[in-house]
Amino acid sequence: MWEQVQETVSFIKAATGFTPEYGVILGSGLGGFTSDMEIEYTLPYEEIPNFPVSTVEGHKGALVFGTIEGKKVVAMQGRFHFYEGYDMKQVTFPVRVMKFLGIEKLIVSNASGGVNPNYKVGSIVVIKDHVNMMPEHPLRGKNDERFGPRFVNMSEPYSRRMIVKAKEIAQSLNIVLQEGVYLGLQGPTFETLAEYRMVKALGCDCVGMSTVPEVIVARHMELETFGVSVITDMGDEESIGTITHTEVLEAAKEAEPKVRTLIKNLIIQY
Ligand code: HPA
Repeated sequence: MWEQVQETVSFIKAATGFTPEYGVILGSGLGGFTSDMEIEYTLPYEEIPNFPVSTVEGHKGALVFGTIEGKKVVAMQGRFHFYEGYDMKQVTFPVRVMKFLGIEKLIVSNASGGVNPNYKVGSIVVIKDHVNMMPEHPLRGKNDERFGPRFVNMSEPYSRRMIVKAKEIAQSLNIVLQEGVYLGLQGPTFETLAEYRMVKALGCDCVGMSTVPEVIVARHMELETFGVSVITDMGDEESIGTITHTEVLEAAKEAEPKVRTLIKNLIIQY
């Protein structure tokens, strides 16, 4: 894997000569973020050696390189999910590549189902912690110390300093932010009512099918990480009947301008 990552990094460096400071993973319906960038290069995933190719509707597949008020950013337009059939090493491969392109900070966004009764569709949640209930672990197998240690400290998966900054920014822009714990499940089914109840009983506020593996791998390599989730549906008795992928994409799209503004300002000000 080390060699594959280095090969991909060499290819991208030769193609772009770009050294990003921030990596951003754009979740469902949030792909418009790249309109806030002064784009310098776009590399479709299929042109990048060793990259998997995204298959889900609403997820475009490209690495986009550019700046936001001078800050150098690489954005993943489209991510890889375990439920698509990739293994966890493939799901998290781009995070390793971004690390060796030079990023120090990773910002991850996603759509999720809310179980915290204070949330509603469209709520924006800063992820303060997560519970990993994915069936495969991205660090399982022989550890390569060149990436990071065998046993990874997970006391601060999401940077407390970045959370403080994001809250300041949100307050100054009148964006209402919630804070919560994200539970990662493999999908691709949305949860049953009993499962949403389990999510809540486990002390989590929202549930989704991504993010956790990427953040684990980011922390393995000591990247500072920030996560934000858009509540696209509520996992409760009244709402559960209407949850569809279309509804998820529509709700994410509606919240998109606020999430974009938040991420953009975090990159500029942090
Ligand atoms: N469950 C899991 N993943 C999701 C959901 C959900 O309710 N909404 C958006 N992604």
